[in-house]
Amino acid sequence: MKLRAIVGVIAISGFAFAAQAGEGKIAYPEGYRDWPHVKSMVILEGHDLADPFQGIHHLYANEAALAGYRSGNWPDGAVIVFDLLKYAEGGHALQEGDRKLIGVMRRETARYTDTGGWGYEGFAGDSKTKRLVSDMMGQCHGCHTGQEKTGFVFSKLRK
Ligand code: HEC
Repeated sequence: MKLRAIVGVIAISGFAFAAQAGEGKIAYPEGYRDWPHVKSMVILEGHDLADPFQGIHHLYANEAALAGYRSGNWPDGAVIVFDLLKYAEGGHALQEGDRKLIGVMRRETARYTDTGGWGYEGFAGDSKTKRLVSDMMGQCHGCHTGQEKTGFVFSKLRK
């Protein structure tokens, strides 16, 4: 019984990996809302990043990315999620609104050699399939290159 369960898990994860590698795409980061929160930021109209990042964003890191934030060395498998929500202003407060998109960075040094070892993807709104990135360098990494000293990551883990 136990053995069968283990074999089943190996078969399933093997399949998931093959599907992901076969398509050459970054998987939707299932469950990222349960990952450790790195920091948040509100980008208002008029900010350099307002198009397309105006809104409230929260950053989340998986275990490998958390190790990267702490050590400065980003292990393969590290994933960071940029979760961007609209805001509604009223009553001297900013409330979270609908999700605009999520941005994803995934560390795989051997694969993403043109973009500093990071793969980039975006998913529109709440969709897990509507992808936004067709040019990792032009749409994403070009701007992140400025952060070479910190492994192309802008944010820092706050206390
Ligand atoms: C014009 C510059 C710029 C572009 C283009 C850009 N980013 Fe970023 N990105 C930033 C900045 C600045 C931060 C830090 C935000 C913060 O500190 O909260 C950031 C943070 C991130 C993070 C969290 C890790 C980190 O570096 O702090 C992810 C994930 C991310 N961006 C993904 C993307 C994706 C995917 C794209 C392409 C669709 C993209 N970014 C395009 C400037 C950019």
